[in-house]
Amino acid sequence: MKEWYDAIKTAQSVEKLEEIRIGIFGKKGVLAKEFAKMKTAPNEEKAGIAKELNIYKSDLMSLLSECKMNLQTQELSRAMKAEAIDVSLYSQQSSRGALHPVNETMDKIVDYFISMNFTVQTGPMVEDDFHNFEALNLPKYHPARDMQDTFYFKDEMLLRTHTSPVQIRTMLHTTPPIRMIAPGSVFRRDYDLTHTPMFHQVEGLLVDKEGTVSFANLKYILEDFLKYMFGEVAVRFRPSFFPFTEPSAEVDISCIFCKGDGCRVCSKTGWLEVLGCGIVDSNVFDAVGYKDVSGYAFGLGVERFAMLIHHIGDLRSLFEGDIRLLEQMK
Ligand code: DAH
Repeated sequence: MKEWYDAIKTAQSVEKLEEIRIGIFGKKGVLAKEFAKMKTAPNEEKAGIAKELNIYKSDLMSLLSECKMNLQTQELSRAMKAEAIDVSLYSQQSSRGALHPVNETMDKIVDYFISMNFTVQTGPMVEDDFHNFEALNLPKYHPARDMQDTFYFKDEMLLRTHTSPVQIRTMLHTTPPIRMIAPGSVFRRDYDLTHTPMFHQVEGLLVDKEGTVSFANLKYILEDFLKYMFGEVAVRFRPSFFPFTEPSAEVDISCIFCKGDGCRVCSKTGWLEVLGCGIVDSNVFDAVGYKDVSGYAFGLGVERFAMLIHHIGDLRSLFEGDIRLLEQMK
């Protein structure tokens, strides 16, 4: 029996120990054989042999379980060592994200007008004819309603072609004074170097008592805003036409690339057109039931600003999701 003690003590694995256990305690194991021998032993010796064998049995059992525990602990710690992850290792440099140029530009525009006490208003992208056209003094058959430009649904519903309908919605549910901007996506059937079917605008509207809002107020805030966006630029107002404003103007800044000398970007004019504006047409106030008020409005394309600020030549590249463009924004 002695050799079994050694076998248990020198076993190198739990598996090996199990083999030994079967060798000792199994049905055909050594103990079974020893007990079997008792049958043929003289009667008076049987009790002595049984006692001795039982002592062996319990000794071996406890030795076995002790060794098994030791081996299990060793095996566990070996496995833990092998599978350990060294968290102190430097990981590969993870790359930081960047704001999309359109978002960054939008944020900057919104920040400016918030600092000037304007509130931010939103409206639906699926609009109806009344808010997108009619109330903005764009009557039926006005050329700006051309099927070429507008995505129409059934029943006079459409994808808004500008953020101006948010003016109407805001005026319909609030009373003046109003100082609001409406940033958001707009949609037109257009696709080339400077047009995409979806782009972003910021609309602005200020309404107060009759006779308190002048073109000079509009001129002041837009000049200040454009200098905030583009640095020291010259700003000029050119007479223009929009159905919802009268008088209306388009606003240019001196070309930020050639400083006004004339280059490819400004088509040799020295000027870049950046927004449209004007004094709110009385027909618009009539459409929302406002009386004895005056106001100004303006609208701008965010992509146009972003392209100028970041010197991006093709508007479509803003929407292609090319990671190299975003990487330059870090
Ligand atoms: N809604 C015009 C457009 O989409 C932009 C615009 C021009 C808005 C002049 C105005 C404005 O409020 O006064 O082209």
